[in-house]
Amino acid sequence: MRTQVGIVGAGPAGLLLSHLLALRGIDSVLVEIRSRDYCEARQRAGVLEDGSVRLLREAGLAQRLDRQGLEHGGIYLQFGGERRHIDFRDLTGRTVTVYAQTEVVKDLIARRLADGGPEAIHFGVTDTQVVSLDTDQPVLRYTDADGSRHEVTCDAIAGCDGFHGICRSAMPRELRTTVEREYPYAWLGVLADVPPSTDELIYAHHRNGFALHSLRSPTISRLYLQVAADEDIGNWRDDRIWAELQERFALPGWTLRQGPVLDKSITAMRSFVSAPMRYGRLFLAGDAAHIVPPTGAKGLNLALADVAVLAPALDQLLTGNTELADAYSATCLERVWRATHFSWWMTTMLHSTPGADGMEAELQLAQLRYVTTSRAAATSLAENYTGLPLAAQGR
Ligand code: FAD
Ligand code: DHB
Repeated sequence: MRTQVGIVGAGPAGLLLSHLLALRGIDSVLVEIRSRDYCEARQRAGVLEDGSVRLLREAGLAQRLDRQGLEHGGIYLQFGGERRHIDFRDLTGRTVTVYAQTEVVKDLIARRLADGGPEAIHFGVTDTQVVSLDTDQPVLRYTDADGSRHEVTCDAIAGCDGFHGICRSAMPRELRTTVEREYPYAWLGVLADVPPSTDELIYAHHRNGFALHSLRSPTISRLYLQVAADEDIGNWRDDRIWAELQERFALPGWTLRQGPVLDKSITAMRSFVSAPMRYGRLFLAGDAAHIVPPTGAKGLNLALADVAVLAPALDQLLTGNTELADAYSATCLERVWRATHFSWWMTTMLHSTPGADGMEAELQLAQLRYVTTSRAAATSLAENYTGLPLAAQGR
């Protein structure tokens, strides 16, 4: 078999890349180890930056996003018994949109299958391999869901297979630099069948640990609690979750509505960057190359931003011009490091480190008072949260 671009992983990065390439008339083969149902149900991120929304709209993918996405003009920061608003619209002229990653993935899968037919995405593959990466004809191998082995000769391969994928480690170890930090806490994420108790997201600093009130729709809430890094989900019955959320969000005159818990899971918190994001004809995008802790909602947006850079770079590479492909890694890493810093900053400002002395909480509160009273500091948060314009990357 032959294709122009082999894509490993049908997460947001791989799916959007195959669509952006198709818009440019470029063929791809997209392989995914999980089933379609699994990919569409995996609970993850929920906030799209302004630039991500525009990117999806320009790519003709925003029909449902424009109907069901909830535009938010700011967030609340809660600390020291007060809840203060950061007004993104006023500070930056930009907004974010609450639209779950599950919905982005459903829209992308539906569109790829409508445009490319059932062969556009191969779900349920096993034993994915990428080889001959330092040649002009890299090869993607996989076993399909019926057990047949395939070998696809490509012009380039995109490793969009997430943090646990195989593409990053297919690059020679001695040519890669990885920088990593694990945080000494995790997030317990809860999906609840109850209308949100807030009009915009609440990021709460509390002596018991951080809490976040987000949402998925006018009837479904998404809530997070800081828990121990090695926490066992079995220790968190629904009534304990609600009691802890009530305590961390408590504010006179405001009520947190409770409802049935539909889903709960624990996510580790880590910053990780592997550079460069390219080796020969293999290009990494999204979580395959970098992970940020979720505070600030950057992971999904970074994955989309990478492939917005990669699609034109591959288009040019296929015509023999290597300029954008050569710049790909450095172009992406600039945004990645900005988001890595912002996510680390939000995380360390809002979480309580186990065993920390009294200094940590006082410094956090001083910083929170500053970002909610200084227009300059608030603008910096707002600018980072709503996202750097993709135009900064030459689009
Ligand atoms: P992924 O979405 O991970 O997609 C990679 C795909 O590759 C997967 O479908 C995987 O099955 C497939 N794959 C893996 N190995 C292979 C293989 N060998 N062959 C073929 N396919 C393969 N971000 C936020 O902003 N907010 C959040 O609240 C948030 N919560 C998260 C919770 C969890 C549990 C995780 C893991 C991530 C979370 N993130 C969150 C991060 C965000 O969801 C990711 O940044 C985003 O999914 C990255 O998209 P991606 O396409 O790069 O990778
Ligand atoms: C969500 C996740 C985040 O990490 C965040 O900072 C805001 C919202 C969410 O899942 O809705």
